[in-house]
Amino acid sequence: MEFVVLGGSLRAGSWNRRLMDLAADRITAQGHAVTRFEGEALDMALINMDRPIPPGAEAIAAALVKAQGAFIASPEYNLGIPAHLKNIVDWTSRIQPQPWKGLPVLLACATPGAFGGHRGLMPWRTTLSALGAFVCPSVVGVPHADKALAEAGRMRDERSEQALEAGLAMLLRLAAALGTVR
Ligand SMILES: Cc1cc2nc3c(=O)[nH]c(=O)nc-3n(C[C@H](O)[C@H](O)[C@H](O)COP(=O)(O)O)c2cc1C
Repeated sequence: MEFVVLGGSLRAGSWNRRLMDLAADRITAQGHAVTRFEGEALDMALINMDRPIPPGAEAIAAALVKAQGAFIASPEYNLGIPAHLKNIVDWTSRIQPQPWKGLPVLLACATPGAFGGHRGLMPWRTTLSALGAFVCPSVVGVPHADKALAEAGRMRDERSEQALEAGLAMLLRLAAALGTVR
């Protein structure tokens, strides 16, 4: 199967990008293909329907349409969706075929804070559900990410490790079940 792994902040040292590394490694280790969108690929003009859709948004939409599932690692900004990621959802939602429709999605957040970003993932669920995505019931929240993800390639927190494993298992199951429906 094919998966899109998308997210992180635009800053170089993004913890969410480190979380994407772990997710991408595990998905590919199970024999699946991963297409990643991060950093500059997420840095595009603000939504303005008087303007043409940016090529970067077209590329993300094309990958989502081909994929059987997506993993999104989103920072929590003021308990909400960061502007650069909401901008991408909004641009891609205007592209046909609408790429989120019927797509299994696992939501994740890494934060140095104590709450694991769960609250910031709630508006993601509202938006993606409105677009027809199948958002996994559980999410992957990584609190104290500056410690849990301090070492590249490894999660140093057992609860977050279990949440990642369980979340990815659910995403892969959902993708396998729905793969032919999209
Ligand atoms: C504008 C802004 C708002 C933030 N709001 C929250 C918040 O609501 N909850 C939280 O846990 N952390 C919040 N943070 C801290 C981020 O979790 C922290 O900067 C984190 O490192 C961002 O993810 P990144 O490491 O992928 O860049 C905020 C940071 C910024 C810049």
